Amino acid sequence: MIAPLTGPVTPGPRPGALAATIAVNHRLYAGCPALCRTFVAGEGGLIQLRGDGALAAGPADGEELAGFLAFAGARALRSDGAVPAGWRPGPPVCQLELTGPPPALRAPAGALLTEEPAPRLAADLQPGLTGEERDNLYADLCARRNHGLGALLTAVKEDGGPLGCAALLLEPGSRTGVLTAVAVAPDARGRGAGRWLVAALCRRYPGWRLLLECAPALTAFYAPLGFRASEEGPRWYRSPEEL
Ligand SMILES: CC(C)(COP(=O)(O)OP(=O)(O)OC[C@H]1O[C@@H](n2cnc3c(N)ncnc32)[C@H](O)[C@@H]1OP(=O)(O)O)[C@@H](O)C(=O)NCCC(=O)NCCS
Repeated sequence: MIAPLTGPVTPGPRPGALAATIAVNHRLYAGCPALCRTFVAGEGGLIQLRGDGALAAGPADGEELAGFLAFAGARALRSDGAVPAGWRPGPPVCQLELTGPPPALRAPAGALLTEEPAPRLAADLQPGLTGEERDNLYADLCARRNHGLGALLTAVKEDGGPLGCAALLLEPGSRTGVLTAVAVAPDARGRGAGRWLVAALCRRYPGWRLLLECAPALTAFYAPLGFRASEEGPRWYRSPEEL
């Protein structure tokens, strides 16, 4: 049975990237149902509604989940277990885990970390977002930092133009971090900036379990930093109403 979550999320000692993300979102936005609503499903499953999308970690009954998502108006779901009946699966996503300290990489020529991380720069660097999605990401990055639930590194070029960014969502209960918002300006790619930023950020969190979700092709980018495939990754699902 799917029911609203009344207390805090207790994601367990080794949550996956989705469970950690749900836990942090719930910590940040539980008091603001217009932004995020969290539900429990069956044996330890979690479902979270955000905008017209949803996240599901752990088990849930497929028929009930499909009905619930339709009622809530959700059009897309990222799930690491439950499969909503009748929804169309999208391409697989890999979950990677950092297996040791990342290498200390030198900054590429002309690349400078900003003194203070710049959430607006990070939001503007993300490819393929609508204006509203950029604003939501900006607000998310600010909220996570302000509550100690996130970290951000941003870098600029010598002329001050935006270069790149990497962020970690931090779930302090399980000391799990989820790498997000990794992006480098298109004209600066292929010179080591992406790996330098990811390594520098992850090195600040020794002893944390660091995870990420990415398209299979990007495992080649993360592997030299020490990221390896962990459990089976989540999948995207699209509502049957979506064309
Ligand atoms: C992915 C991204 C951050 C890499 O930044 P970058 O500064 O070009 O990366 P680096 O120069 O540090 O590393 C380059 C290496 O990563 C590999 N790589 C970069 N992008 C890749 C991609 N999309 N798919 C597969 N490999 C990729 C390159 O082939 C190169 O490999 P090599 O060293 O074995 O030759 C950048 O391409 C980007 O911003 N992409 C759009 C946003 C994105 O996809 N973010 C990742 C979300 S999980």
